[in-house]
Amino acid sequence: MKTLTVALPGREYDILIERGLLAQAGERIRAALPRAVKLAVVTDSNVAPLYSGTVLDSLHSAGFETALFTIPAGEQSKNSSALAKLWEDFMDFGLTRTDGVAALGGGVVGDLAGFAAATILRGVGFVQIPTTLLAQVDSSVGGKVAIDLDHGKNLAGAFYQPKLVLMDPDTLDTLPLPVFMAGMAEVVKYGCIRDKDFFNFLTARPSREQLTADIEHILYTCCDIKRQVVADDELDTGLRMILNFGHTLGHAYELAGHYTQWSHGEAVAAGMCAAAKLGVSLGVTPAELPGQLEDALASLGLPTFIPCSIEDYAAAVGRDKKGAGADVTVILLDRVGHAVPHKMPKARLVRLLHSFHKVP
Ligand code: NAD
Ligand code: GLY
Repeated sequence: MKTLTVALPGREYDILIERGLLAQAGERIRAALPRAVKLAVVTDSNVAPLYSGTVLDSLHSAGFETALFTIPAGEQSKNSSALAKLWEDFMDFGLTRTDGVAALGGGVVGDLAGFAAATILRGVGFVQIPTTLLAQVDSSVGGKVAIDLDHGKNLAGAFYQPKLVLMDPDTLDTLPLPVFMAGMAEVVKYGCIRDKDFFNFLTARPSREQLTADIEHILYTCCDIKRQVVADDELDTGLRMILNFGHTLGHAYELAGHYTQWSHGEAVAAGMCAAAKLGVSLGVTPAELPGQLEDALASLGLPTFIPCSIEDYAAAVGRDKKGAGADVTVILLDRVGHAVPHKMPKARLVRLLHSFHKVP
């Protein structure tokens, strides 16, 4: 078992990483939520038939009374109606303030169930059981929970830390290849922003088989970086912004593809490449870095360029949560393994980005 602790004073919690851990969910959650009698388990329509049986059996063995709430798989479930339905479902189940909610699934389930847990009865105990690579290396750790609005992604949300994160790497074996590789975009991001050796380790392992053989090390390294960043800046006003490398532009690509053409991870991959080119044009990033990054991502089958209109860039930059008035902070790399926040006028950023998409 690999264990990491997110050291937030008064709200510290463990991330446990072990193959087969789902079958121990009951005893592990019992230790994290000692007073809970009922546990509402939220999952999605793909994950339920694969893993809910193992988790529910283990929870029953540990004495929990459970109810399973299954949302339709996909980003379209991360909305206010699904949130309101969960609130009513939790009340029908008789959830009380000492009970808990567990999210069993990818980032969509984690974000939605986490926001529901944060808001029902003004907050009940919450546990993350992430089953996608993206959720294991990123969304299940750090307490960002949210739903999407018609105006954009993740616009209504909260910081609400879980009491425990349970990661079973075996669950990744059933992921479709594109979903696994979308998670790899976030994995590569950690190498880019914080750990050059890890970036090199990843570039030497471009196949799913090679990555799976080292998956515990990969999960541990990513979560170790994320927990340090979150412990330093829980509320995303300083260091945590570096986790958004590739995301401001990635959000533009998700918007350009109407949230259906490109997954979050694919959009982040292309966003990191655009951010690398942007860094070169601003004199921050070394000229050879964009090529290195493109090679690494392309070898994983991830997109390194996504067409985007100036309108979609402007919309995404305009609503970026790292924006302040006319300025926005973009995350650039001054070398592989080191990120630097760079504040600039939104209008200049949009113009520069658009120039990458023009035929020379
Ligand atoms: P997702 O939750 O939609 O999962 C992707 C697909 O994989 C879905 O079809 C799902 O049903 C399926 N799936 C999940 N686990 C599976 C398994 N083990 N085997 C087979 N299929 C499985 O998407 P995601 O990529 O996990 O997460 C994306 C979401 O996470 C976005 O909404 C994004 O905004 C959010 N996110 C949040 C944070 C955060 O800090 N809170 C960080 C990054 C991303
Ligand atoms: N996914 C970015 C963050 O947690 O801050």
